[in-house]
Amino acid sequence: MAKGDRVFTDIASVVRELKPSYPVYCVRPEVLVRNARRFIKLFPGDVLYAVKCNPHTRVLEALYEGGIRHFDTASLPEIAQICEAYEDAHSYFMHPVKTRAAIEMAYRVYGIRHYVVDHIDELQKLYEETEKGRNVIAVVRMTTPKAEGTLFHLAGKFGASEAESVALLKKAKKLGMEVGIAFHVGSQCMDPGAYTSSLEMVGRVIAEAGIVPQCVDVGGGFPARYANMEPPPLEQYIDAVREGLRRIKLPPTVEVFCEPGRALVATGVSLLVQVQLRKGDQLYINDGIYGSLQELTTSDMRPPARLVRLEGGTANEFQTYGMMGPTCDSVDVVPGAFHLPVDVKEGDWIEIDQIGAYSNAIATRFNGFYPETFVTVMDDPVAAQLSDGPGAPSVVAA
Ligand SMILES: Cc1ncc(COP(=O)(O)O)c(C=O)c1O
Repeated sequence: MAKGDRVFTDIASVVRELKPSYPVYCVRPEVLVRNARRFIKLFPGDVLYAVKCNPHTRVLEALYEGGIRHFDTASLPEIAQICEAYEDAHSYFMHPVKTRAAIEMAYRVYGIRHYVVDHIDELQKLYEETEKGRNVIAVVRMTTPKAEGTLFHLAGKFGASEAESVALLKKAKKLGMEVGIAFHVGSQCMDPGAYTSSLEMVGRVIAEAGIVPQCVDVGGGFPARYANMEPPPLEQYIDAVREGLRRIKLPPTVEVFCEPGRALVATGVSLLVQVQLRKGDQLYINDGIYGSLQELTTSDMRPPARLVRLEGGTANEFQTYGMMGPTCDSVDVVPGAFHLPVDVKEGDWIEIDQIGAYSNAIATRFNGFYPETFVTVMDDPVAAQLSDGPGAPSVVAA
């Protein structure tokens, strides 16, 4: 646990002690440790945590405690953060477009061996900045078709076609580099079958190129549970990966990787916000789409929320509310409806759960608002208590 960390037994104690008028990230290290251990136990290969998803040290420390030693890093600062914090960690440079300086530093200073490429010019860059590819594994990122129900399809920006991937593998080999193949089915992928069909593409590329890769990386995309979204259990995704691997009959020398972000951290952090004003069924809160809740503008998922009040009890009846962010920008409106007791009032707190992925990592400083307070909480998060009902039970902290 981080030095100077404030630790609370439950969310009620956070509210009682801090009475925060600013947003507070509540990190549940036990949940993160559990998530990491479960993933590592189930996945048939190395689990690379996608640092971009949540690079906060408290999150990284919990994942490390849970056994994560491999990290998907997509920038030089991420590589430095991991390599300098954890001596026994392995970092992989998984961004398909890198500056020459970043490649050179990653190679020379941090000894990084794996680099993703999806274009012939990037491969050339890699060759030129790394002593002609000595000890380098060029991991070819393939594009995959959009899977049913995937919330973020990442192939729009990155990824080589099957034919381009074959050409890249051959060229890298010719240049004297080791090779690998990677893909990303898209974030919050609701269809486990996407991993099997993407691995079949990998199989076709390997056969066509006539090259045995050093590694095959099935990427991230493993989903988290949200208030309105119940994905199949992780076991089904792992089965789908195993089935894909079985179909393409990789030699046992080939290392298998995955790069989960969301599935490891979403459930491990909640966000405590305060109601600054109520206007009918609109709640003006102290965080919004320029802060921790930006991801909600680009997706349909809704995090569960519950009311936290210091004293006096709360109504048993629920209604839906809209939430308005703190900035002066009129588009700073949190999409979707939140089910909370009918008597929400100014000064109440709301705990928004499942906020560990792509929240603090992408928050801006717009309008002077920047969520940056982190505490550790040892109770069960809201989602653990959510049923199909209209809202999570409220908490009275008196
Ligand atoms: C290359 C790569 N790997 C892994 C991830 C993590 O994805 P997820 O959080 O969906 O597991 C991302 C997310 O953008 C990514 O771009």
